[in-house]
Amino acid sequence: MARRRQLYEGKAKIIFEGPEPGTVVQYFKDDATAFNNQKKGTITGKGVLNNRISEYLMTRLGQIGVPTHFIRRLNMREQLVRQAEIIPLEVIVRNLAAGSFAQRFKMEEGTPLPRSIIEFCYKNDDLGDPMVAEEHITAFGWASPPEIDDIVQQTIRINDFLTGLFLGIGIRLVDFKIEFGRVWDNDVMRIILADEISPDSCRLWDADTNEKMDKDRFRRDMGEVEEAYQEVARRLGVMPEN
Ligand code: C5P
Repeated sequence: MARRRQLYEGKAKIIFEGPEPGTVVQYFKDDATAFNNQKKGTITGKGVLNNRISEYLMTRLGQIGVPTHFIRRLNMREQLVRQAEIIPLEVIVRNLAAGSFAQRFKMEEGTPLPRSIIEFCYKNDDLGDPMVAEEHITAFGWASPPEIDDIVQQTIRINDFLTGLFLGIGIRLVDFKIEFGRVWDNDVMRIILADEISPDSCRLWDADTNEKMDKDRFRRDMGEVEEAYQEVARRLGVMPEN
């Protein structure tokens, strides 16, 4: 296949020009970073697994009517997705206290929250992705009030669905991060789910043992990182054959 033009290289993915207008190819790397790029490493086979896991979760979300960028998987590490104008927000959903939230409120990790909490961070590496309020988002024009409403509604549905899906395979969805983008269909603008959903962007704990099955194993040098990603893929039924 002819080499495609690279449009963007991120920490864990590369975006190439797609075969048709309005599409791009998302390539999943094994590279892992944490703490705003201060920690770097590789997780062998991560790209292959995240490609499959994100394909599966986006497809299932599409089936319940959540609009997503996913079109089809192309090969082990690449998927074809709709080109979207990425809204520069990380939308974080928290069901249990963990990570930066547990630190901020001096709560023990795993403490259930009174209800699921949605937070927004401004995607900006130089600033370290600061947390922002709707006021900042609308004042700086990153998204309009109706767009924020749409994002929140979709995010609640995504959380409800994924929480149940993971619980069905013995995994607690502690928290996760998603991103959205704008697309135009016949001049009508729509917001769709973009980026990826994988153990890189979710906290996933075994429902019986609370064992971590996500990128925290890399962030915290816990070992058995590859094995944890493989176990998530295996339970979802998307473990690639060798
Ligand atoms: O670190 P923190 O507790 O704020 O992370 C919340 C959730 O968002 C975690 O599931 C983490 O994996 C995800 N996240 C992410 N990318 C970031 C920041 C957080 O995927 N840049």
